[in-house]
This record gives sequence, structure tokens and C-alpha cells, in this order.
Amino acid sequence: MTDKKTALITGASGGIGESLCSVFRNDGYKVIALDRAEKLVDADFFIKADLDKICSDNDYCLEIICHIESLLRSSHGLDVLINNAAIQAIRPIAKITVADWNQTLNVNLISPFLLTQKLFLFLEKAGGSVINISSIHAKLTKPEFSCYATSKAALVGLTKSMAVELGSKVRINAICPAAVSTPMLLAGFDDQGEAYEILSSMHPVGRIAEPSEVAKLALFLASKDAQFINGASLELDGGIGSRLHDPV
Ligand SMILES: NC(=O)c1ccc[n+]([C@@H]2O[C@H](COP(=O)([O-])OP(=O)(O)OC[C@H]3O[C@@H](n4cnc5c(N)ncnc54)[C@H](O)[C@@H]3O)[C@@H](O)[C@H]2O)c1
Repeated sequence: MTDKKTALITGASGGIGESLCSVFRNDGYKVIALDRAEKLVDADFFIKADLDKICSDNDYCLEIICHIESLLRSSHGLDVLINNAAIQAIRPIAKITVADWNQTLNVNLISPFLLTQKLFLFLEKAGGSVINISSIHAKLTKPEFSCYATSKAALVGLTKSMAVELGSKVRINAICPAAVSTPMLLAGFDDQGEAYEILSSMHPVGRIAEPSEVAKLALFLASKDAQFINGASLELDGGIGSRLHDPV
């Protein structure tokens, strides 16, 4: 049995996931990274798993949970589960299919629920917490983001419901970032430097967030100093969510 704290981080191969892995590992956590895309990240273990499939295939779900449990058996439990993986089906309403809804809700909403439910005893044993990475789209959105925005708003709702029911044993919180400087976000601005500058300046702090700012907030939420924070959805948005877009 090791006294080292343990973190399970989903979406570990993405821009924010990579930063979550390094920030938690640098803080002394044993990090279990999970993603469908295998990548060399700063983690002690990497589990290749499809979070869409764990919601639709019971045997596959059991196999993945058993794999995670086998890595937790030598520890004192699971100190933090960070549900960070997500997908965006960006489509006009006329083109959204039931498959888009199923896949988005599976990855962005139901898999965070299932991982929390199935790993609850390990979280309880460690007096741990869950951090759901939601988005500014939970409150403020734009055209073609119906599936994504709905899933992120529902994740905030799930965070509150679970916090109320489980809070005496495991705290559940969410982080709602505005734009974060990830390779994926930057790629969307290739050859559109002006649009990137406009996006940055729309944030009252004059820039978008760094992935490490999401990771450091998660580190605080997981810490002993945050023991009274439960059911919160913290806006990490540089003030853009308070801004009135007035033409004059
Ligand atoms: N980047 C931003 O501007 C921004 C802003 C607000 C919120 N967020 C949220 O932050 C989180 C991380 O975003 P990111 O920018 O790092 O995105 P990303 O696309 O770089 O990373 C997402 C990761 O999730 C993984 N993933 C997707 N579907 C999966 C599946 N079925 N099974 C397992 N893994 C799967 C992907 O392989 C990828 O590595 C997401 O929840 C996103 O909604 C991002």
C-alpha cells in the first residue's frame, strides 16, 4: 500500500489533459491517464479506452473498470477523478443526428457519471473528489454548438446533483473555462491571426487561458484547502461571462 495520492485523468492526450497530468504529477500524485488516443504523457500509467463505448457495452465497461481498479489496489484509494475528455459535434441544427447526440452525451456526460459511480468506493476510501471539466458553453454559447452546449450544461447539473447526494463522502465540483490555448484551439485560427486577436481582446483580462491555469485550479479543488467547496461550477473565463456586448 502506497501513501502517494492518486489521480485518474480522462482526455489525458488532449491539450488540457496533458497539462493536468504534469501539474498533478509535479505535485506528487500518482497519475493514471486515460484516453482513446495513445500518447506519451507525463503519467505513471496510461489506459487506452473509449469512453463512448463504456456507455454502450457493459462487458467493455467492466473490463476498463477492472483495469483501473487493478491500478488502485496498491494505493489508499482514488484521491481525484478528473472527467476532462469531451467531444464537440459542431453542426447547424438542421444537420444534427441522433448519433451526434448519443456520442456527445456518452462522452461528455454519461461517462463522467459512470466513472464516478463505478469508482465511488475508491474515492470514498481516500476521502477524494471529482472534478468535471465543463465549459463556458454551459451558460453562454453560439450557433452550431447545440450538442456540446447541452452536454456541458447537463454536466453542471450532474455536478450539483451528485454533490448533494454524495457530498458527505466525496466532493464533486466543475470548472467552466472560456477559451483555452490548446493546440486544437490554435489550429482553428491558422491564417486567421486577426480573429485570434479579437477573441483574446474580448476577454476582459486581454487574453485567453493557458491549459496550466485549468490544471492549477483543479489541483486546488482537489486539495485539503478546498474541503468546503462542493457542488460548485467555477468560471475560469477572464471575465468574458460578465461582459455586455454593447455596440457603443
Ligand atoms: N480548449 C478550450 O478552449 C476549452 C474551453 C472550455 C472547456 N474545455 C473543455 O476542456 C476539456 C479538454 O479540452 P481540450 O481543449 O484539451 O480538448 P482536446 O480535444 O485537446 O482533448 C480531449 C481529449 O479527449 C479525448 N477523447 C475524446 N473522445 C474520447 C473517447 N470517446 N474516449 C476517450 N477519450 C476521448 C481525445 O482523444 C482528446 O485527447 C474538454 O472537456 C473541453 O470541453 C476546453
